[in-house]
Amino acid sequence: MGGIKVEKIKSWIVGVSLFDQFNLCVVGATTLLLLCICTVQLRAPSKTMTPRFLILWSSQHIDTTPQRVYENNGYLMISANGGLNQMRAGICDMVAIAKYLNVTLVVPELDGTSLWHDSSQFQDIFDVNYFITSLRDEVRILKQLPDEQKRRVKNDSIYTMEPHSWSNLDYYYYQILPKIKEQEVVHFNKTDFRLVNNGIPIEFQKLRCQVNYEALRFTPTIAEVGKKIVKLLRQRGPFLVLHLRYEMDMLAFSGCNEGCNETEADELTKLRYATPWWRQKVINSGLKRKVGWCPLTPEETALALQALDIDPSIQIYIASGNIYGGERRMAALRAAFPNLVKKETLLANSDLKPFRKHSNMKAALDYIIAIESDIFVATYGGNMAKLVQGHRRYLGYKITISLDAQLLVNVIDRYKKGALNWDEVSQEVKTGHADQMGSPTQRMEVPENPMHEDYFYSNPQECLPPVGKNSKST
Ligand SMILES: *[C@@H]1O[C@H](CO)[C@@H](O)[C@H](O)[C@H]1NC(C)=O
Ligand SMILES: *[C@@H]1O[C@H](CO)[C@@H](O)[C@H](O)[C@H]1NC(C)=O
Ligand SMILES: *[C@@H]1O[C@H](CO)[C@@H](O)[C@H](O)[C@H]1NC(C)=O
Ligand SMILES: *[C@@H]1O[C@H](CO)[C@@H](O)[C@H](O)[C@H]1NC(C)=O
Repeated sequence: MGGIKVEKIKSWIVGVSLFDQFNLCVVGATTLLLLCICTVQLRAPSKTMTPRFLILWSSQHIDTTPQRVYENNGYLMISANGGLNQMRAGICDMVAIAKYLNVTLVVPELDGTSLWHDSSQFQDIFDVNYFITSLRDEVRILKQLPDEQKRRVKNDSIYTMEPHSWSNLDYYYYQILPKIKEQEVVHFNKTDFRLVNNGIPIEFQKLRCQVNYEALRFTPTIAEVGKKIVKLLRQRGPFLVLHLRYEMDMLAFSGCNEGCNETEADELTKLRYATPWWRQKVINSGLKRKVGWCPLTPEETALALQALDIDPSIQIYIASGNIYGGERRMAALRAAFPNLVKKETLLANSDLKPFRKHSNMKAALDYIIAIESDIFVATYGGNMAKLVQGHRRYLGYKITISLDAQLLVNVIDRYKKGALNWDEVSQEVKTGHADQMGSPTQRMEVPENPMHEDYFYSNPQECLPPVGKNSKST
């Protein structure tokens, strides 16, 4: 295990800055070197092709079916649903499935209307040419269906379906592949949680990681702005990214209203009832909070960070949309950690212009900064928290704190009643989080209930660096 001792947590958290950055550089440089070597080896046999390939690349007309011979059992079209990070995981699963079935994948459609009303498409968020070419040894990916198959789209005769959630590869082989062979083109209108976490051959688990951590690169527009923010933050020292999921949609959806006034609680309930597919029933916020199913409030989060002895002068980048209740609700957090920043305070309006009305592009920016940060803290175990956690493990087990809402509200409520003093609070919170810091651990399996297993993308252990390599606990 990670070997973290409670007494060490303080020095870990307070003193990560330079050491951590140094480590990061070393890892980065090694990876780069390896990549270069691989590229040279890959290209070597087809030297004569390289110049043509490069010309094609630069003129944006990439021949996506070069040299390679693919077995093709048909075409798979997908509409990725959910927020950015849910779509991202779904796309990784679909690439693995397409390879397993030897089908040609069409560049995913992002179903932005399903959650965030964002019209951004795949190529607005991800570098589509890189996605296609970096995976060309694994799967054939096309930007569009070939003309012949495209006629079926016009005729509206594409077979559309939702694959079953949490299916294994047998399901795709025995149920889906015959359909694809029969129909030639099959369209999945949902991609979230369609592939099980465990029991997948290692080659395909590794492919899921290759897509997630290598092939899915953000567009240069997004990457540049992300880099700019990271640079600004680094100039001023270490920084913590706080995924404070305290946004209106989250609160309305969950039915949680701790700390809200009556007007606000009413507003949240109305929104929940007005949104199709959201639970239209009475929800007891207090009970839900007690069992840890509510996103932590900014006030609770402030106490949690203080109890973990996070340096009060550290920069905290808030990776979220608008915090419900605005500055009024941020007051306690700001009082405890005055160096609170967000993209809107770091950048000029003009820098953020391309991102306006594109919540998925903004989420991409936050993702970049979350990956780079010295410490990442999530207040709610949603898709962003899970994917960032896995990615940071992949980068060498960077400190990633998943706050335990049930433990925290329990401790905080006892503190407020006077049943605990501050030292006891701090001790309980540290002990409770000692193994919630993103260090190596076994992914929990529950074969009869895949929904309750640890998520593959939060701990992709088949793809992680050997333990001890980056250990800071000695
Ligand atoms: C896919 O192609 C590989 C390599 O040619 C082959 O071993 C495998 O059996 C094929 N699978 C399917 C489902 O066609
Ligand atoms: C499309 O529909 C037209 C008219 O219904 C039909 O003649 C044609 O064969 C169809 N094409 C395909 C690819 O299904
Ligand atoms: C997906 O397609 C199936 C079959 O056409 C349909 O019943 C289902 O409602 C669709 N789901 C979504 C999310 O569009
Ligand atoms: C409740 O919160 C809203 C803002 O979210 C504020 O405008 C209003 O004054 C508050 N009401 C009371 C009674 O504090």
